[in-house]
Parts: sequence; structure tokens; C-alpha cells
Amino acid sequence: MTDADVVRADYVHGYSGRESQRLLDQATTLAELLHWDTVFPTGSDVLEAGCGVGAQTVAIAGASPGARIRSVDVSAQSLQAAKTRVARAGIRNVTFLQADIFNLPFPAHSFDHVFVCFVLEHLRDPVGALTTLKRLLKPGGTITAIEGDHGSAYFHPNSVAAQRAIQCLVDLQAMAGGDALIGRRLYPLLFEAGFKNVMVSPRMVYVDASRPQLVDGFTRKTFNAMVEGVRNDAIACGLIDEAAWDQGIRDLHRTAEPDGVFCYTFFKAVATTRASPSSTP
Ligand SMILES: C[S@@+](CC[C@H](N)C(=O)[O-])C[C@H]1O[C@@H](n2cnc3c(N)ncnc32)[C@H](O)[C@@H]1O
Repeated sequence: MTDADVVRADYVHGYSGRESQRLLDQATTLAELLHWDTVFPTGSDVLEAGCGVGAQTVAIAGASPGARIRSVDVSAQSLQAAKTRVARAGIRNVTFLQADIFNLPFPAHSFDHVFVCFVLEHLRDPVGALTTLKRLLKPGGTITAIEGDHGSAYFHPNSVAAQRAIQCLVDLQAMAGGDALIGRRLYPLLFEAGFKNVMVSPRMVYVDASRPQLVDGFTRKTFNAMVEGVRNDAIACGLIDEAAWDQGIRDLHRTAEPDGVFCYTFFKAVATTRASPSSTP
């Protein structure tokens, strides 16, 4: 662990190999749904804030080969994995830097675009982060922010025990200063940070047995794996006992059976640093 990793010791998902694999599974499964409409122009400068192991970097850099992408993360270990992944994908338009979003070593107005995905949910001060990132944008620059919202998870068969296990993750993230329900707040957060032309589009994942890639890639390997990852912390904090936890996880996996259904909504926001002449705030 580096000093910077110690700073993020309260990061609810941790930095294990299993979590890295989960981020990669998540990004691969959701790439089309989340990124089909994200293309950065040739010659533009893009900051990816909180790139992690590079799971989204490959998708955004691959779709915009003419953009110069600067990807930063506080974790040296994750950055190393990101560098390897991007190099293996043959992507050449990304450079990496270990840095904290709240203390980035770039002058004001350095970037045309900022991209931030699944990071605001872990920050104690998401508006402060957005305000800092806004300062780095050129006049007229844009931000793309993507977040999930665990309150949007519903499924068949319905299960109080499964919802209780999910609530443990929501509570642990809140205890660490984050917000696992942040997706629904993207508009007010961006508005409060002073962004203009804020447009949020919900991206719903609907999974049933006719979509086996989503059953495996999303229900099992992204969502259920994420909840399962906080088992020890949830029990150690006294949020739930082992029997109730195990029942909740069994019920979550039950939704991936042939007659099961799983629904979840991500929120993708795009905003600019200044209002277009015809727009409302
Ligand atoms: C859930 S991961 C998401 C990574 C990547 N964006 C993705 O979607 O796969 C959150 C990442 O944010 C990083 N992070 C958290 N707080 C940060 C901060 N203050 N500055 C920079 N990175 C931060 C963590 O180290 C972690 O890699």
C-alpha cells in the first residue's frame, strides 16, 4: 500500500484483486449502455478523474482515439493495473497520474472535458469535487458524470432479506462518508457546483434469463459481487448477523435463476461550464 492508498482506507469496496475483476466485468457488461453516446473530439484534452484499474478508460479512450486522455487516481496500485490494461488493449492516447481529485496538479482551464464514473459516490464532498473539476475546465468545457443508485435495485422474486443485505452496503458507504444512492442526486449536485445545461439520462439495466450475458455479467458478477464484497464489514459492524446476511445473498442469487428478474438504474449526466444562449439553468 502507498501513502495515497492509506488515505483511501475507508473506500468501501477496497482494492482487492476480486474488486478489480468486478470493476472490469462491470465496465465490459455496461460499456454500450453507458458510453454509446460519449465521443470526445480529436485534439481535445480530457481528464478522467478516478480511473481505478482502467475499466472505463479502455472504453472512452478506444471510442475517441484522437482525444488526449489524462487519467488520474489516488491509488498507485490501481493505476499500475490501469496502465497495463490500456497498453494491452493497444490504446496510445492515455497518460496516467497518481493524484487526489481535491489536489490535482493542473492549472485552471486545462481541459475540454472531464469524465468521472463511479467516484462521486465515495466522496465526502461531491460538490467540492465537482467545483474543483469545474475549475480545470476551459470556458464552455463539459463534464460527464456517471453513477449508480442502489435504491433503484428491484427484482423477482422480491426479498426483504436481499434488500436488507443491499442496505448494509448503503449504510457502510454512508459510514465511510459516501452515498450509494447518489445517482438520483446528479442533477442537484452539478447544479450546486455551478454547472449549466445539466442533462441527466437514466440508464436502466433490465435482466432476465433471455439475456444470459447480463445475468452473468451484471446480476452475478457486478451487483451481487459488489454486495457480497462487504460481508465481513457488515457483520463486524453489527449491521446484520451471519444467518440474515447469508439469506439475503442467497435471495440475490435467486434472482439470477431462469425465472428470476433483476432491474437497476444508472444515471448519466452531461453539463457545461456556461449556459448556452437558449438554455434554462
Ligand atoms: C469504484 S472505483 C471506479 C473506478 C473507475 N472509474 C471505474 O468505473 O471502473 C472508484 C475509484 O475512485 C478512486 N478515488 C476515490 N477517491 C478519490 C480521490 N479523492 N481522488 C482520486 N481518486 C479517488 C478510488 O481509488 C477508485 O479507484
